[in-house]
Amino acid sequence: MKLLVTGGAGFIGSAFVRMAIARKDLRVINFDKLTYAGNLENLTEVQDNDRYRFVHGDICDQRLVDSILAEEKPDAIVHFAAESHVDRSILSPEPVIQTNIHGTFTLLESARRLATPRFVHVSTDEVYGSLEAPLEATEAYPLNASSPYSASKAASDLLARSYFVTYKLPVVITRASNNYGPHQFPEKLIPLMIANALEDRPLPVYGDGMQVRDWLFVDDHCRGILAVLEKGRDGEIYNIGGNRSLPNLDVVRKVLAITGKAESLIRYVTDRPGHDRRYALSSEKLMRETGWQPVTHFEEGLARTVEWYRNNPAWVARVRSGEYRTYYEKNYGNRDTQ
Ligand code: NAD
Ligand code: DAU
Repeated sequence: MKLLVTGGAGFIGSAFVRMAIARKDLRVINFDKLTYAGNLENLTEVQDNDRYRFVHGDICDQRLVDSILAEEKPDAIVHFAAESHVDRSILSPEPVIQTNIHGTFTLLESARRLATPRFVHVSTDEVYGSLEAPLEATEAYPLNASSPYSASKAASDLLARSYFVTYKLPVVITRASNNYGPHQFPEKLIPLMIANALEDRPLPVYGDGMQVRDWLFVDDHCRGILAVLEKGRDGEIYNIGGNRSLPNLDVVRKVLAITGKAESLIRYVTDRPGHDRRYALSSEKLMRETGWQPVTHFEEGLARTVEWYRNNPAWVARVRSGEYRTYYEKNYGNRDTQ
């Protein structure tokens, strides 16, 4: 099977590409714009494989997308490419709307014209918004997006669904919870806390730190996407959760314990505007229909992740140079310490 993977140089996309290439029956064309979050260093282990091809391009470029699809005729598109960070979407929504909505539309249009046999649209539990405990969102839960990022993902989910309903394009949608693992850009909670802790820098916790997220090891997510690719039913939505809900403060304390650093590094800072208090989702449908399960225990996955960042200081230094400093100052510079 030949896959066109968008955003395969990012955190989850690159884990998926490495996993797919490890299987001898899959070929991958990785289509990626290489934004600040795209990094070909994530793919050194597959770059010379003859079942792998990299194409540098923007998913909003209809002519290029059309020509690659016409040339390669993939059996499936697995669509990861997105502006993926909530804080950036708050500071600067335009590129988020452009890539996440218009880019998804462009891909769907090409897939429709070229009759691509399967389109896996990778989405997020954030589209369900904040849920009161003990509620867990099933796939039928209403969309209640709060940030420009989650609104753009909800919009792209609806577009993807409309291409199934209207044009019978064989679309499947996945909605995963918070991913963590090696190669994650250190703007997200876990890699940011690890990178700062390893250098004895302050750890900025938004608000009271009691917001709850469900944590999913990235390889478990990728296995879930493969399960949906191969066994998911056309037009269906599948939640992919880690079954491990924790308040942010607990996560930060675990990072400090593993890195051997003191809790005095924690700084409570001004909360994120529109901050969702709690995400929780049920992955019962995916488990029942495909047999998938998350297998990585959070403490084990977190220890492996810390180890990876400890062993890859050059990767961290490179991605934190340049643009990252500007972003860090913009996002954290004006936040009061509580
Ligand atoms: P990421 O920010 O690490 O990577 C995004 C990738 O997309 C980068 O390689 C970037 O260069 C590429 N990209 C961005 N704009 C592009 C464009 N216009 N054209 C082509 N390529 C472009 O993101 P991630 O965390 O790996 O997330 C991947 C997908 O999974 C996203 O769709 C995201 O919404 C979804 N998701 C993420 C999480 C999470 O916890 N990170 C959870 C659930 C769902
Ligand atoms: O739920 C899935 C989503 O998870 C994905 O769709 C997004 O792409 C991904 O970015 C992530 O969104 P979150 O906003 O939940 O992740 P983030 O790592 O940015 O934040 C996790 C929690 O930690 C959230 O409650 C905000 C808090 N936080 C985050 C940062 C970066 C802090 O307290 N301090 C921080 O510096």
